[in-house]
Amino acid sequence: MASKARTEKVGIIGSGLIGRSWAMLFASVGYQVSLYDIIPEQVSNALKNTEIELKNLEKNGLLRGHLNAQQQVDCISGTSSLEELVKDAIFIQECVPENLDLKKKVYSSLDAVVGNNTILSSSTSTFLPSKFSEGLKHQSQVVVAHPVNPPYYVPLVEIVPAPWTKPEVVTKTRAIMEEIGQKPVSLSRELEGFALNRIQYAIINEVWRLVVDGILDVKDIDSVMSDGLGMRYAFLGTLETCHLNAEGMANYCERYAKTIYAVSETMGPIPKMEGATAAKISKDLEALCPLDKLQSRREWRDACLTKLSILKKEMESKKK
Ligand SMILES: NC(=O)c1ccc[n+]([C@@H]2O[C@H](COP(=O)([O-])OP(=O)(O)OC[C@H]3O[C@@H](n4cnc5c(N)ncnc54)[C@H](O)[C@@H]3O)[C@@H](O)[C@H]2O)c1
Ligand SMILES: *[C@@H]1O[C@H](CO)[C@@H](O)[C@H](O)[C@H]1NC(C)=O
Repeated sequence: MASKARTEKVGIIGSGLIGRSWAMLFASVGYQVSLYDIIPEQVSNALKNTEIELKNLEKNGLLRGHLNAQQQVDCISGTSSLEELVKDAIFIQECVPENLDLKKKVYSSLDAVVGNNTILSSSTSTFLPSKFSEGLKHQSQVVVAHPVNPPYYVPLVEIVPAPWTKPEVVTKTRAIMEEIGQKPVSLSRELEGFALNRIQYAIINEVWRLVVDGILDVKDIDSVMSDGLGMRYAFLGTLETCHLNAEGMANYCERYAKTIYAVSETMGPIPKMEGATAAKISKDLEALCPLDKLQSRREWRDACLTKLSILKKEMESKKK
């Protein structure tokens, strides 16, 4: 059991919501974490914030890793120089806002100061890594490690290579993600939407069609997921759910493949989420959760996820 800080250094670019979460995750196993931001107050705020958050987590028995909160706090520091950030870092996690021109600018500045052995990993939710790494001297060191919000409680990380990303960069990134207690999945190549959002969009599209067609209202359609499918999906993937729903997957295909195909053929075109329908669905949602309640509802969501992650850990150890 590692109970000491380590010497390897990790740099974080952008000390907003996601940058702060990464800092806490890397510190949980004792990496020396250096935070950088274009706005220096963002770094000092992040240092204050992560200290408060780590100590709260410890108080509530929710702290990750084997170091105590103070030891984790001591692992995190700030810098106002990009050059200093990358110096001796084995891994950089970029967390600047989702804007392609901005990402390109940041990677071009990084390219000028980074060495040959540092991994440059982006948190981007939507941009293919080739879009901001093409032509860089260090393009083979760039990869995407896409987290899911809030990363401290939702462990999935999608690892997405550009066509020129060195295989060892992918392997090392995956190993680091496992080491900090996240659940990496490695895409074989870059693809719009990666995997999580492609699946999420397929769900959103059918949900939208069912509401627009008047089959279910806004409240009931969300029950289909939160009180139905989602209950199983929190513990089992889609395919294993099928496997258990019949006498194995081969039997599931025998029983249901034709029905699934026939039903899927009735699903209709991709809906456009705009205009009067979008306004109507927004209005119904605002009646259920007013806009001034979003923040407190998010806090409730995070509390649910915290409990769920504890339950998942407990149930994992009882797996048969
Ligand atoms: N928020 C989410 O739910 C979520 C989930 C997964 C991935 N992501 C991705 O993570 C990244 C960061 O998102 P966020 O929500 O933390 O954004 P954010 O706006 O909270 O934080 C971005 C930070 O980057 C700083 N910044 C801006 N320009 C900079 C520059 N040139 N150099 C250094 N720092 C700079 C800002 O000052 C700010 O502190 C985005 O690519 C986003 O798509 C976000
Ligand atoms: C980094 O790699 C490039 C290209 O492979 C090489 O030209 C350069 O000398 C290397 N730099 C160092 C410091 O090793």
